[in-house]
Amino acid sequence: MSNSQKPRVFVSRTVFQDVIARLSEEAEVDVWPEPLPPSYEELCRRARGCAGLFTLVTDRVDAGLMDAAPTLKVVGQMAVGFDNIDVAAATERGIAVGNTPDVLSGTTADFAFALLMAGARRIVEGNRYVHEGRWQTWEPMGFMGQDIHGATLGIIGLGRIGREMAKRASGFDMKVLYHGGSPSEGCADAEEARSLDDLLERSDFVTVHAPLTDATHHMLGEAQFRRMKSTAVLINTARGPIVDQEALYHALSDGEIAHAALDVTDPEPIKMDDPLLTLDNVTIVPHIASASTAARRRMAEMTVDNILAGLRGEPLPTGVNNRELASV
Ligand code: DGY
Repeated sequence: MSNSQKPRVFVSRTVFQDVIARLSEEAEVDVWPEPLPPSYEELCRRARGCAGLFTLVTDRVDAGLMDAAPTLKVVGQMAVGFDNIDVAAATERGIAVGNTPDVLSGTTADFAFALLMAGARRIVEGNRYVHEGRWQTWEPMGFMGQDIHGATLGIIGLGRIGREMAKRASGFDMKVLYHGGSPSEGCADAEEARSLDDLLERSDFVTVHAPLTDATHHMLGEAQFRRMKSTAVLINTARGPIVDQEALYHALSDGEIAHAALDVTDPEPIKMDDPLLTLDNVTIVPHIASASTAARRRMAEMTVDNILAGLRGEPLPTGVNNRELASV
């Protein structure tokens, strides 16, 4: 097929070239070349005339964008989360939306567990201390943190990633509580907490694996932090706005909880004048929980598979609105 006959697809950042080459066999591909994402206006401009979009969590895909691109048939999001996409608006317009479940679950859980360990044992603080030239002696009362083995892990959202987290916890002889979701093979011992408050009160570590929705926005705020143990560590690899960040700052600085280890913030990137950045008992990394080379490659491949299916008018292998579109 010559380029002029191929459907157009905009890819909103540079990803694995060989994976995109597969897309180029069936589409005329326009790749955003900059390291920072296109602005919303630029995204709308580039989407015009496209049949497909390859998007990331940094792209706002709303009704306005879809109206600016009336030829759009498919949006392939290279992420499991898709709160940046108005799926209802896409469904109304007959646009298929795909995401990348499963292929990053183990990778994200590995990282969430690494954050848990870093927070519990103050690894990042210790590293900073050494780099700043402050290490003078072995301190019998210095850098004391929390034991991980035998502790209680509270999982908010026992879905694909939450269950992987529970499996890792069993290797550390942890008791697992959960709120939302359901256990399966490998984490059948997880106990459902009576309520979110119950989970917060009983957990030594609280890890968030829920999607961002109206119901989970600021699900953890002042009242919830007050319920938690003063020794507790909060881990968030899900979405920043699930946590009320101002309330988190107060909880950490008032000693209501011991540490927060965050892969996600609100907004992203976190503002450099955010008071959280003044605290020692917070570890913040730039939304990298799925960033193993293998997982990111699988995510890109799955996104291309979704887009190719959408261009052919087939159901997406991992479509989030397949069922809704089929019933229209
Ligand atoms: C996702 O997949 O939703 C992550 O936030 C990026 O890997």
